[in-house]
Amino acid sequence: MTTVDDLNAAAGSGRSSTAVNQRLSPGAVIGVNDLRVHFKAKAGVVEAVDGVEFELRQGETLGLVGETGCGKSVTARSFLGLVPSPPALPTTGTIQYRYGDDVVDLTAIGGEQMGDIRGNRIAMIFQDPGKSLNPALTVRDQLGEVFLIHRSAEVLDAADVDSAAGDLSSRLLRRAAGLKSRWPERVLLAIPPLRARRTALRAAADSLVIAALSETQIPNPAAILDRYPHELSGGMKQRVMIAQALACNPDVLIADEPTTALDVTVQARIVELIRELQQRHNTSVLYISHDLSLVRRVCDRIAVMYAGRIAEIGSADDVFHHPKHPYTRGLLAAIPSMASKRGQLEAIAGTVPELIDPEPGCRFAGRCRHATDMCRSANPMLVEVGTGHSVSCFAYQPITGSDLAPPTVPDQPIVASTQPAGSGDEGSAPGGEP
Ligand SMILES: Nc1ncnc2c1ncn2[C@@H]1O[C@H](COP(=O)(O)OP(=O)(O)O)[C@@H](O)[C@H]1O
Ligand code: SF4
Ligand SMILES: [Mg+2]
Repeated sequence: MTTVDDLNAAAGSGRSSTAVNQRLSPGAVIGVNDLRVHFKAKAGVVEAVDGVEFELRQGETLGLVGETGCGKSVTARSFLGLVPSPPALPTTGTIQYRYGDDVVDLTAIGGEQMGDIRGNRIAMIFQDPGKSLNPALTVRDQLGEVFLIHRSAEVLDAADVDSAAGDLSSRLLRRAAGLKSRWPERVLLAIPPLRARRTALRAAADSLVIAALSETQIPNPAAILDRYPHELSGGMKQRVMIAQALACNPDVLIADEPTTALDVTVQARIVELIRELQQRHNTSVLYISHDLSLVRRVCDRIAVMYAGRIAEIGSADDVFHHPKHPYTRGLLAAIPSMASKRGQLEAIAGTVPELIDPEPGCRFAGRCRHATDMCRSANPMLVEVGTGHSVSCFAYQPITGSDLAPPTVPDQPIVASTQPAGSGDEGSAPGGEP
């Protein structure tokens, strides 16, 4: 029987499906190489992320899309060392990050260096705001701290405090503003000149916090300054978290389903805010979503993820107008459009497989109408099919010398918004969740 190695050898690349590109290309700010994050569970090993490779370029918005359970959040959390271990087994592969003049591997650093990167240079808007805000801090303290740490010059400027205060480190500044102060300091801060400075600093931080909150269209932001996270609705918490992530002007913003809990008008404003930030600061954005139509509006490039692997990556135009991978086609066909017949919506048959000790082979094989024995025998590699457009499917992989027949995927361009229901290339039964 043909093995993975046979197929890779037949593909003539000499490069295994786990090959690692160790160099970060000049325009890239992050390079993910053969990233594998597996979890130890009672039933076996969950191969949540398995050989993921992509680059995030300076100033671009890269969409990471796929159904729930495809490994998008685990990939993103790996950037900041936020995957709990255990149950996660040691991560393999690398996530190279351009850190000033150096390139560091985010999977290998820790402590102080990761502390500086997290929040300061790479900020993340989490999928679940309830778990990401500090339940013991009010909105004022939660966001005020971000300004006092990351934008202290602006706070000092707005407070118009004496020049001596300008020498304060951000830690001292937080103390001088009364945040993180211990009781002896609190006594000292009661002395009139110091109290006046503390009041000025807190008022300056408050005004920056209010401005940041109002940018996310929170009505009457001053009214929520003294509230704790549990006193806010889900949508409100999400907006506080977005304000917090945007406040530090990061180099890289990871937005993990940032607008899921918001209504469409606020959603549009948040998407616009992220765009503005990106243009103002040349920020690189990794925009994670299961909503392809949203990603289409905001992203320059798109990576489609399926069951822990990248199925297809390319420019938004390539992925939307010239999709190659049967999974991408299925997702596009499932986008409701004005042309869809009432009551009819395309969906990919089946669901994302359990990733516990998965069988070898293409992980989409169980749902793909084009699958052959070759697909069930080995894992296809991500191969370039056009400039900057790569696909992981045997139909596009040059293979010679194998006794297994490769699949054939008819090359039909799909334009989701104009495609009538029923003409999609993939799927017919409900069950997908794009
Ligand atoms: N702590 C964990 N322990 C075991 N499995 C996990 C853990 N976290 C995530 N997973 C599994 O990893 C897979 C990918 O999850 P996730 O990255 O959250 O998917 P997505 O964000 O694409 O919806 C899922 O099968 C999920 O069950
Ligand atoms: S044709 Fe084969 S390799 Fe391609 S997506 Fe379908 S199952 Fe996977
Ligand atoms: Mg997720």
